[in-house]
Amino acid sequence: MAQKKRDSWGSRLGIIMAVAGSAIGLGNFLRFPAKAAANGGGAFMIPYFISLFLLGIPLMWIEWTLGRYGGGFEHGTAPGIFHSVWQKNRFIKYFGVIGIFGPLVIFIYYTYIESWTLAYSFFAIAGKYGKIADQQTMQSFLSGFQGLEKNQFFSSFAPAYFFFLVTFILNTWVIYYGIKGGIERLCKWAMPLLFVFGLVLLIRVLTLGAPDTNRPDWNIANGFGFLWNPDFSALKSAKVWLEAAGQIFFTLSVGIGVILTYASYLSKGDDVVLSGLTAASTNEVAEVILGGSIVIPAAFVFFGPVDIQSIARSGVFNLGFVTTPLVLNKLPLAPILGFCWFFLLFLAGITSSVSLAQPAVAFLEDEFEINRKKAVSIFAVISFVLCQPAVFFLSRGVVDELDFWGGTFFLVLFATIETILFAWVFGMEKAWDEIHKGADMRVPKFYKFIIKYITPLFLFFILGMWLWQEWLPIIFMKNVSAANQPFILGTRIGLFAILLLLAVLVKIAWGRRKKAGQAK
Ligand code: ALA
Repeated sequence: MAQKKRDSWGSRLGIIMAVAGSAIGLGNFLRFPAKAAANGGGAFMIPYFISLFLLGIPLMWIEWTLGRYGGGFEHGTAPGIFHSVWQKNRFIKYFGVIGIFGPLVIFIYYTYIESWTLAYSFFAIAGKYGKIADQQTMQSFLSGFQGLEKNQFFSSFAPAYFFFLVTFILNTWVIYYGIKGGIERLCKWAMPLLFVFGLVLLIRVLTLGAPDTNRPDWNIANGFGFLWNPDFSALKSAKVWLEAAGQIFFTLSVGIGVILTYASYLSKGDDVVLSGLTAASTNEVAEVILGGSIVIPAAFVFFGPVDIQSIARSGVFNLGFVTTPLVLNKLPLAPILGFCWFFLLFLAGITSSVSLAQPAVAFLEDEFEINRKKAVSIFAVISFVLCQPAVFFLSRGVVDELDFWGGTFFLVLFATIETILFAWVFGMEKAWDEIHKGADMRVPKFYKFIIKYITPLFLFFILGMWLWQEWLPIIFMKNVSAANQPFILGTRIGLFAILLLLAVLVKIAWGRRKKAGQAK
């Protein structure tokens, strides 16, 4: 009876597409190539794949399993799921608050960046930036659009805000229709379409050859060489390892809380082993094959071995919104290729952002018994207000600050808590049985050892390194300009308030449950 009340997936393909949709995002096409190029090229792939096998894949299985387990108790978010696993502990549900906080914080800025990709899809087709041929002018196009300056391209911030509103409404519309009717339906057509756009761009890049006959070494093979030839000295730096592990978390959407929620809509006998692995593998194909082959190799061909160094380090926004449109502008059918690129990013973005919204909605539905439509309306109003600082104070570093806490720090912390809970509190024997309920394949036995010892140790190492290297400068805002400090402080106070509010809501929800005599 309990299961009937909650939404569910329509098919196995549906949840695989949805989890892959959550995983494949802006991170695959912008963050990954930028990180790989800046951290040793091919050598980056060593810590990257080690992190994938020791952190990413185990966490994927942990979250799918815990989510399905919690769903059996009618809990779709971490406070309830953690409580189901460790019922004797009164405090564990409060740690689960991070699993709602993290995705909400990422959603706040992610939706805004996603709206740029929708805007640029239109600009590409309309030829709005089609005549721009140099970095500086393309950069001022972006700055004008973002409202950072008034220029020949944009005299107001209205277009950016308009596209933000459209994107926000689209996201709300999808989650309003629920798991099967909204998210699953979206991902089932958006994911194949994304791969079609990705393949079109990949083929175009692979066939670039050496377009400038005067510079035969500015060719596509050397473009791939720049990204993939290993610089092994990079492996000596702890930062490279941390960046690689961070990328694995971000790209697979693990440690955030969204997979817990998605998996909570599974039934007890549904497979998680093969489904989880399929979703993770799909993400890796999109990231390593598509994400690694488009932006940087193409930029090398047109900007050459010297300029590519600074381009690769120019940051994700620059790569996506300045360098790539410039490169595509140099090719025949530029408007269509530009549209393919930005609409691919938009599809990648929206299938991720709806997953980031779902934990907060599920929390209201499951713990306060609010119906979906009402829960989505409450979420929409609150998150819309919360998005505003990200939209208006981009230049003040607010987005970077949100990304650090929501998209980096809390992710690792949450993953650590989940792993300990799963392997040590739930217990590895019980956990192993739980993973294999309804499983279509067995997890290789050595993963029992990895999940119990290696994954938590690796996570402690990352957290420890972080505290060691970055804690003090971050807390004291050492790298923040004096003018931006009030904005960063304001963001931190806001984040703390959200965390506190969520903890209070958990307390109220459990108080109500207790009263109703259903504390489970
Ligand atoms: N996993 C999502 C991405 O890579 C959040 O963008």
